[in-house]
Amino acid sequence: MIKVLFVCLGNICRSPMAEFVLKDMVDKLHRSAQFYIASAATSTEEIGNPVHYGTRELLRRKGISTAGKYARQMTRQDYKEYDYLIGMDQWNIRNMVRITGGDPEGKIFKLLDFTDHTRDIADPWYTGDFETTYADILEGCQALLEKLLAK
Ligand code: 4NP
Repeated sequence: MIKVLFVCLGNICRSPMAEFVLKDMVDKLHRSAQFYIASAATSTEEIGNPVHYGTRELLRRKGISTAGKYARQMTRQDYKEYDYLIGMDQWNIRNMVRITGGDPEGKIFKLLDFTDHTRDIADPWYTGDFETTYADILEGCQALLEKLLAK
């Protein structure tokens, strides 16, 4: 079982998008049983809230449901539980390392580091552009999944 935790600032826009996109990819490959995929926030801002309308609607149009997902904050325990803890931007990474107290096992990554063109994923909470965020998340999840399946 490969355990992946996606992380962003609020856990309502980007990290749940990555969570449900990757779940959909492994579902379609009939590999769901091999993966445990979840998402969490670095901040407390949105704890308990459902997925943002922009992410929810974009994924709904692609046939992907986010039902049952409510924002939660990442914990130090998550570092023990997960194999990959994957942030969306450099600020997430800094906050994730602050929460875990370090990354001695090299489990913390930025999603687009798995691609050939490393960069941050813009936060649609600020940009309003969920489509660009989706394109980046799709590219990152495809690259991540290739790496995980090659193992
Ligand atoms: P996310 O977007 O990190 O992609 O979930 C945000 C959602 C909420 C806030 C910031 C970013 N907020 O400050 O409440």
